Amino acid sequence: MVHNGIEYGDMQLIAEAYDLMRHGVGLSTREIREIFEEWNQGELRSFLVEVTARVVDFPDDQEGGDGPLIDKILDRAGQKGTGRWTSAAALDLGVPVPTITAAVDARLLSSMTEQRQRASGLYRPPVIGFAADRRETVHRVRAALYAAKICSYSQGFSLLAAASQARGYEVELAELARIWKAGCIIRAAFLDEIRAAFGRDATLESLLLDASVRDAVASRVATWRSVLSLGVELGRPLPALSASLAYFDSFRSARLPANLIQAQRDYFGAHTYERTDREGTFHTDWSAE
Ligand code: 3PG
Repeated sequence: MVHNGIEYGDMQLIAEAYDLMRHGVGLSTREIREIFEEWNQGELRSFLVEVTARVVDFPDDQEGGDGPLIDKILDRAGQKGTGRWTSAAALDLGVPVPTITAAVDARLLSSMTEQRQRASGLYRPPVIGFAADRRETVHRVRAALYAAKICSYSQGFSLLAAASQARGYEVELAELARIWKAGCIIRAAFLDEIRAAFGRDATLESLLLDASVRDAVASRVATWRSVLSLGVELGRPLPALSASLAYFDSFRSARLPANLIQAQRDYFGAHTYERTDREGTFHTDWSAE
């Protein structure tokens, strides 16, 4: 199940990279096919990137059809439910998997075809056009895709670890990465990195805490931000790329605004809070000031 949740995340991240290159940068399907072929030689090497290269520029196979088949395929993603199941299980276990959930939501939104058609007549996209360097932007999208993928897998593996702990499954995460590498939809070069990380420390709480994974993300994060900025400016929806970045930014923050949430909870519900400077549980009479 979690394999399929990660698969949903991968597919959505790849679809967003495609969308940004096709409708943001304005590349042709032939150019995008070549880009995915090139990406499949490096750190992004995976079955799903290979599949993408094969389908993205495939010619229309209907009699009299012309142009790439991808342009004729209805943009309504089906789902048999394993992605949704992963998100629901993660919520039950209290493990955040925002990239996977964003991928499920993106499929649901894609199915709202009629409403989207109506809304597209009500709201204009930004008038701003793409003005940056194409080659450099493609480079950046590659880095963003890899960093976002790492954060997505990190979520999936944290879910597996939590489920294993809660239910006594005794899943060996390094071994799982090896098995998945051997043949499944998410088989990818990156699984070697995961295997190595859990090989170094079988009790690793998060992939993002591994030194080598850290270097891979840290060296790409500024570029990743620039890709999201570009997507936002151009009005291209990038729900999984941005969910991964928000996950990363939350995860790497020693202090989050949850202190304000605790204050709000205590104000309206006397739910109490803890302090940073002393032990215990506190409640404040907020009307006293
Ligand atoms: C698969 O076919 O590999 C998975 O079950 C994913 O199916 P779905 O995308 O239809 O949920």
